[in-house]
Amino acid sequence: MDLHEHWFIRDVEIPSRLVLAPMAGVSVQAFRRQGRRYGAGLVCSEMVSVAGIQHRNERTLGYLRVASDEHPLAIQIFGSDPAAMAEAARMVEASGADIVDMNFGCPVKKVTKTGAGASLLDDPEHACRIVEAVAAATPLPVSVKMRRGVENGSRACLDVGPRLVAAGAASLTLHPRSAKQMYTGTADHSLTAELVSLVDVPVIASGDVTSRAKAQAVLATTGASAVMVGRGAQGNPWALREIVDGVGGEPTREEVVAELVLFIRETVRELGERRASGFLKKFYGWYLGRGRFPRPFKQELVVLDSTEDVERRLIAAAPGALPLIEELEAELPSGDEVQLDLPISIYGGG
Ligand SMILES: Cc1cc2nc3c(=O)[nH]c(=O)nc-3n(C[C@H](O)[C@H](O)[C@H](O)COP(=O)(O)O)c2cc1C
Repeated sequence: MDLHEHWFIRDVEIPSRLVLAPMAGVSVQAFRRQGRRYGAGLVCSEMVSVAGIQHRNERTLGYLRVASDEHPLAIQIFGSDPAAMAEAARMVEASGADIVDMNFGCPVKKVTKTGAGASLLDDPEHACRIVEAVAAATPLPVSVKMRRGVENGSRACLDVGPRLVAAGAASLTLHPRSAKQMYTGTADHSLTAELVSLVDVPVIASGDVTSRAKAQAVLATTGASAVMVGRGAQGNPWALREIVDGVGGEPTREEVVAELVLFIRETVRELGERRASGFLKKFYGWYLGRGRFPRPFKQELVVLDSTEDVERRLIAAAPGALPLIEELEAELPSGDEVQLDLPISIYGGG
């Protein structure tokens, strides 16, 4: 399949067959914008708590910030109360997102013990009530991301998936591992193929797609409309370009530094220096896996106090990155192009 072929989730046009995965602690705006630049047709926020939205928690509401160069964009919500999910969906719509995605896949205890995330796969009737309430609350297409089921070997997704579509889901994403598996073993995409044959809405295949060859194989053997890439894109937007365009090859040290510096600056603008400096540490290791940086260099960055120090150190290691950074900054939308439909006072951090 041509990964550049466009497709639709209801009336939302998606310009490529590659979707950037929602990842808690990773999918900040800088990650999503970068994903779009490197070929992702659809990007997604990390999971946003409906309880946080209900309580107007500043940090939670910050996740609803959408920039003009992110579209099409899904914002993912998680919760277990249909009315609260419906209210959250209306906030997602007000924030300017194109799709409301629901998380029925999170395996983490803190989430499942509240009746949210993957535990909904054990309670299909309740899961359907949530989808019905959310679909009724917003004119946007609503979608669901799920795992194969809770227990190892479960095939619950094949029972629940069609019911969620009947309840109003305009697309489904399947990560065919069980919740128990967390991230161990492999994603069994034969289940994705079965799900595709059971529903008449687009299915997105998530799990273990890290290369163009794997993406092509998953698309061909499952009939899915698109592949989703998560861990493969952490600190590695070049993997997205390889998957969509077939343009491989390692980025230069200058390219790595330029993307990382832009990522740092944007994340500081979004989260503020204090939150960003801790948040960014994991990204240094991810990015510097390319560009032939010596191991001590990564360790050095992690212990620096401020992101300005990190930036200075990076540019010293690759001064040729400076013009690239200027080019990247020039492509960003100016402040007034950034959609801020919610009152400015609710945003935490820069
Ligand atoms: C750090 C991390 C955070 C994640 N957070 C979310 C999330 O917020 N919502 C969600 O639906 N899936 C989440 N996932 C699952 C991914 O979206 C994806 O389905 C999974 O990682 C398998 O794809 P991959 O092999 O391409 O990484 C997360 C995964 C990781 C590694």
